[in-house]
Amino acid sequence: MSLLWSHLPMAPSSSPLPGRLVILYSSQTGNAIDAAERVGREAEHGGCPAVEVLSTDSFNPSCLPDERFMIFIVSTMGQGDPPDSMKDFWKYLLRNHLGVRWLKGLHYAVFGLGDSSYRECNFPAIKLDQRIFDLGAKRITERGLGDDQHSLGYEGELDPWLLSLWKSLNRTNPSLLPRVSDASHRKLNILGDAKVEVIYYSAPQATDISDSKILIEKARSMSPALKCHNSIEPLHMLQMVTNQRLTKGDTDRDVRHFELEDWRSAISYQVGDVLEILPSQNPSLVDDFIKRCNLDPDCYITVRAK
Ligand SMILES: Cc1cc2nc3c(=O)[nH]c(=O)nc-3n(C[C@H](O)[C@H](O)[C@H](O)COP(=O)(O)O)c2cc1C
Repeated sequence: MSLLWSHLPMAPSSSPLPGRLVILYSSQTGNAIDAAERVGREAEHGGCPAVEVLSTDSFNPSCLPDERFMIFIVSTMGQGDPPDSMKDFWKYLLRNHLGVRWLKGLHYAVFGLGDSSYRECNFPAIKLDQRIFDLGAKRITERGLGDDQHSLGYEGELDPWLLSLWKSLNRTNPSLLPRVSDASHRKLNILGDAKVEVIYYSAPQATDISDSKILIEKARSMSPALKCHNSIEPLHMLQMVTNQRLTKGDTDRDVRHFELEDWRSAISYQVGDVLEILPSQNPSLVDDFIKRCNLDPDCYITVRAK
């Protein structure tokens, strides 16, 4: 079994394996990557002989007819626009010379990530699904459309969609997913190995990260916690005059529109200025956490992709 995770540009292989499943993600802020990686992990657990998880901009669209099985995970940006990584791919698919049988050998499925509070909800996923179908490919299952407004976020739709995907894929080609029940089995170890590694630097070793230390000290000095907890009053006292919930229905997600008024008119600003409200932690609670986890407060850590 081989599982190739690649977020780096790479050319697709010229002669794809017959049992290969390609998962292409188009993401702007990372959710579609997480979703695609989960799809990849589940396919691997289902016994898929070769799984490739790729960003759309690292896949040459002219190679689409060479593929047999593909899953597209697509998010939405701007006003119903595709993420940047999908723009060239999408332009290619709109070319006139691609005929209605161009993708006749391809089986595919599309999952969209979007937000129903936008009018153009999930437009790129809906359009991509239709275009690939119009170019002759066969749907493995109906498209799924995730919604940020769902109480479980996009996963509220992804969970049932994956169950249906694996069942249909197994029906289409049993050798591609021989252990179909394992694919959707939510075992704890399905997460696999960690993709990041945390490195601890004791005080003498911290010279290795002197540049990062300067940045950290700068960020610490800006901490609102220092200002708020060291003086009786925060730097500016603002009055909240509007607090309106934007999320609809009984969802647990609580997104709000706030309006703040500076009743002493102490802050001057111009159109286009940005007000940054920084979250604050009570330093004594931070100390408690450090003690509870047996951490060294003077130790620096770096987190990097494995
Ligand atoms: C700036 C911005 C614009 C967005 N515009 C839309 C939109 O027009 N339609 C929609 O359905 N969702 C929209 N969304 C919601 C995203 O598609 C959703 O949060 C998705 O999970 C993001 O996935 P990604 O992190 O892989 O890019 C927007 C989100 C942001 C941050």
